[in-house]
Amino acid sequence: MNHDPKTFFIRTYGCQMNELDSEIMVGQLEGRGLKRTFDEDAADLLIYNTCSIRDLAERKVMGKLGQLGRTQKRKRIIGVTGCMAMAKKESLFRKLPHIDFVLGTNNISDLSEVLNDVIITGKQSIRTDNTFEENLDYLVAKKESKVSAYVSIIRGCDKYCTYCVVPYTRGKEVSRPPDDIEKEVRKLAAEGFKEITLLGQNVNSYGKDTPETQCLFHDLLYRLDKIEGIERIRFLTSHPIDITLELMQAIRDLPSVCEFVHFPIQAGSNRILKKMHRIYTKQQYFEKVAMLKELVPHASLGTDIIVGFPTETEEEFIETMDVFRKIPYSVAFLYTYSARKGTPAMRFKDDVPQEVKDDRHSRLFELHKEQAAQERAAMLGQTIEVLFEKKNRNGQLKGRTRCWKKVIIDGPDSFIGTLQQVKLHSFNHETLLGQVAEVAAGV
Ligand code: SAH
Ligand code: SF4
Ligand code: F3S
Repeated sequence: MNHDPKTFFIRTYGCQMNELDSEIMVGQLEGRGLKRTFDEDAADLLIYNTCSIRDLAERKVMGKLGQLGRTQKRKRIIGVTGCMAMAKKESLFRKLPHIDFVLGTNNISDLSEVLNDVIITGKQSIRTDNTFEENLDYLVAKKESKVSAYVSIIRGCDKYCTYCVVPYTRGKEVSRPPDDIEKEVRKLAAEGFKEITLLGQNVNSYGKDTPETQCLFHDLLYRLDKIEGIERIRFLTSHPIDITLELMQAIRDLPSVCEFVHFPIQAGSNRILKKMHRIYTKQQYFEKVAMLKELVPHASLGTDIIVGFPTETEEEFIETMDVFRKIPYSVAFLYTYSARKGTPAMRFKDDVPQEVKDDRHSRLFELHKEQAAQERAAMLGQTIEVLFEKKNRNGQLKGRTRCWKKVIIDGPDSFIGTLQQVKLHSFNHETLLGQVAEVAAGV
């Protein structure tokens, strides 16, 4: 038997899906009367919502959890949730005998039951279902922000890129019913949220597994755009193969849908793309970008890149650099390849030496930095719409443009949650600085 915990601490690693899952867990725990603390040492229950995407991500958590076992002075309940729970399952109990429960990404709704098991029996408990069942109460999620909220629309991934653990840690694609999504967004709008970000590993697959709803991703956007109060709709992530003309038209035509598409190419060489099982060629990717630019000329693009994929040559890496010269991305997340157990790419020899991976990473990073600075310099003097979300540590207001650029101004708290026209005068690394050009009515 364990003591009934009164307080909990939760740490989130990884992507926005994990952030949202943590918000849901916080909501569930607060719903059963536990109080959240940000002091790890003081909490009776500790939850680590983990990520497995790269080796470093896992090592960080394993290091943290190992240390916890060595330094723990009093008995506390420790739970491991998220993608590492799925990747390592029972083996976590062998490596970390002091943890009490393992809860997979498809079992978030079982948190309370698992906690009861652990409290009553005093024994370790594990739930790691392979597929997600649509039984999660998203409405309990405790949002950190009051302005911008994540909304899950599809879980899992069926793409099986050869390097990626996600299809194994999150299971197959399961779309959420459109009525549920609409209900949640209406509730968020009524609570005063101004922006939503629709989440899925591949939002463009939305609705394909549920033909009976007759609601594909663009149809969903048309439904959500009608909801009054929601000024901006964003979405993450778009697999290039599934971006359709209808989606591009929705971006063009729907006032609330932002003109920013995170559209990862991953690599610039067709041979590497094939080995990655990305199922498009560079030419097909460029065609989609050209189509988008034709329909929405001011759209900006984001990408993810993996450098040093097995067998990637210098020439093939240069092809990735060339993609950046053709498409100056506004946002780019650059990674060095990390071999993941259980993925098809484990069969390939991880033969690009770490120094070469690091060198390619820094060359691409420099190119992107230069391009991003040029893009920002070209924006100076412009007046642009910014949604203010919160204050930063220096008491300044932080917000974003429709195309996801960070903007900071000096201004009153009453601007939080409002759209303002901001004249940009300078920039500092990735952040644009400006001042309000005219104050919107009602502030
Ligand atoms: N579903 C999204 C991305 C999910 S993971 C998509 O397909 O675009 C986020 C990013 O992590 C990926 O886009 C990829 O660039 C990177 N990534 C995934 N597995 C990786 C690995 N084994 N090594 C290095 N980077 C990886
Ligand atoms: Fe991973 Fe590919 Fe699925 Fe993205 S689309 S989550 S990279 S398998
Ligand atoms: Fe990591 Fe899982 Fe997200 S592996 S990046 S937390 S889907």
